[in-house]
Amino acid sequence: MKIILFSIFLILVGSVSSFNFLVFCPLYAHSHHKFLAKIADTLSDAGHNVTFLAPIILRKYENVKYLESTKDIVYIQPSKKLESLGVTSDYSKFWSQDATAIQFVPAIKAFTRMFQQLYEDLKNDLSVLDELKNRKFDAMVFEFLCATSYPIAEYLEIKALFPSLSMTHHPFMSRLIGEPSSPTVMPSMISSFGDDMTFSERLQNTIGDVFFNLFVHPPPMVSFKNPERLVDIADMTARSPFLFMNGNPYLDYPRALLTKTVMIGGISVNATQMKQEKLSEEYNQILNKNKKNVLISFGSMIFSKDMPTIYKQTIVRVIESFPDVSFIWKYEEDDVSFSKNLSNLHFSKWVPQTALLADSRLSAFITHAGLGSVTELSYMGKPAVLIPVFADQLRNSKTLERHNGSITLSKYDLSDFDKLRSAIETILTEDRFKINAERLAQQLQDQPVSPHDLLVKHAEFGAKYGELPNLDPISRQMSYISFYMIDIIVFVGSIVLLVLALFFVIARWVLRQCLRPKQKVE
Ligand SMILES: *[C@@H]1O[C@H](CO)[C@@H](O)[C@H](O)[C@H]1NC(C)=O
Ligand SMILES: *[C@@H]1O[C@H](CO)[C@@H](O)[C@H](O)[C@H]1NC(C)=O
Ligand SMILES: *[C@@H]1O[C@H](CO)[C@@H](O)[C@H](O)[C@H]1NC(C)=O
Ligand SMILES: *[C@@H]1O[C@H](CO)[C@@H](O)[C@H](O)[C@H]1NC(C)=O
Repeated sequence: MKIILFSIFLILVGSVSSFNFLVFCPLYAHSHHKFLAKIADTLSDAGHNVTFLAPIILRKYENVKYLESTKDIVYIQPSKKLESLGVTSDYSKFWSQDATAIQFVPAIKAFTRMFQQLYEDLKNDLSVLDELKNRKFDAMVFEFLCATSYPIAEYLEIKALFPSLSMTHHPFMSRLIGEPSSPTVMPSMISSFGDDMTFSERLQNTIGDVFFNLFVHPPPMVSFKNPERLVDIADMTARSPFLFMNGNPYLDYPRALLTKTVMIGGISVNATQMKQEKLSEEYNQILNKNKKNVLISFGSMIFSKDMPTIYKQTIVRVIESFPDVSFIWKYEEDDVSFSKNLSNLHFSKWVPQTALLADSRLSAFITHAGLGSVTELSYMGKPAVLIPVFADQLRNSKTLERHNGSITLSKYDLSDFDKLRSAIETILTEDRFKINAERLAQQLQDQPVSPHDLLVKHAEFGAKYGELPNLDPISRQMSYISFYMIDIIVFVGSIVLLVLALFFVIARWVLRQCLRPKQKVE
């Protein structure tokens, strides 16, 4: 009895107290909401009070259900001006166009304007924030790219900030906290280079990096409380206890990380749950028809229906050349008149992607390599043909290809029958792709610390202690010259040169003495 009571006492004392978290998530882009909502739910499930503050920017996201266990959602209605600034880009041009950094600058500028307007709206009416202030939040999670988060955090006097990113890394964010992020070591977020770059690739990557630094800046925002003062985004980021990134170290390129950077990529994937999902009878019948099955999907940002007709026709011809393989193609329109009526091709406007990836009957996945799809695919261990179209898809496909379970094609190869057919045939017939893909999946499953635990433990630690100056490296404040040892190289180099010069002068003098004709001495 005593032992039981003592154990209960231990459990009570040992249990972490609950914290108040604010998750700030303006509604403007699907992948960002998904990531932040997953963080909110994970913290709610761990027993914390989580408030999800969601200013609406694009109406279409207003009624999408992103949250499961987080119940406290605070919406803010947009002003007319903000609503008109919502960025609803048409990406279909990227099917037949290169996607370079230069094309992204206008898009980023549009996002910046949007966040600036959101800031103005909040400044005009601080009532929602005033109400939230009473809840005394211990910590706040937000997307680093949304600069509006910083004046809010300051106004609510939140001591622990967790800037987060629904992508794998951000060189600018790394630099702010003093993390090494040389463009010669890491390909940029939208680069098609791998981590082993040639001289010309390193040069392009460096120029792209400088270009971004010159043209992309967070908008200047003054404090809500004290309009005389600018909010120092760089300083607030550097003083954050932890940053949550949607990259996974076992999947992504290895790189130098500070303790502050917590890689929680994979947190959105629950492999157990995916494997329990049931497929409808329709899909069961399709998968049972042939021994091999392939899923084709280009995600929800860019649509199959918008691809050039020549790509569609090539895909159909390739499918026709594999009569013993069934293909399921996520295609967003009823009109498929470009296609023949093939018994092994099934069009579907929506596909149960996770359930299909988890099904042992699915042999391979042809995908655009969006980060969500790449992560799910990696956890499920399926061989893949990766056909990135734009943005970070180019980088994601290179990172996954490193694991030897997939083949990357250029989107332009979609008009090349032989290339596309040969890639699919290789993936379907050579066992090594399956073995390698399954090994990666196993490793992700067996990670020493799961993304779930990494998030919960770091969020609790940060909420408890607030700023952690012990994690703030001095290298952050070093100049370029001292950080890259340029002063030391110059100093030591000068001494070496000096010694060499001295040696040369002395040697010349000695030689002259020895070679002097003897008679003269007499
Ligand atoms: C969490 O919310 C509950 C119910 O609103 C409240 O009783 C509790 O005090 C809150 N916890 C903290 C740490 O504020
Ligand atoms: C994953 O899903 C399973 C089954 O639904 C559930 O029991 C488990 O708690 C989930 N794991 C996480 C980390 O949410
Ligand atoms: C396609 O072929 C199947 C049988 O092979 C047939 O049932 C179906 O009606 C055909 N569809 C069209 C649009 O021709
Ligand atoms: C992929 O294959 C190459 C060449 O065989 C090998 O050097 C590399 O280590 C492999 N990568 C992984 C992650 O297994």
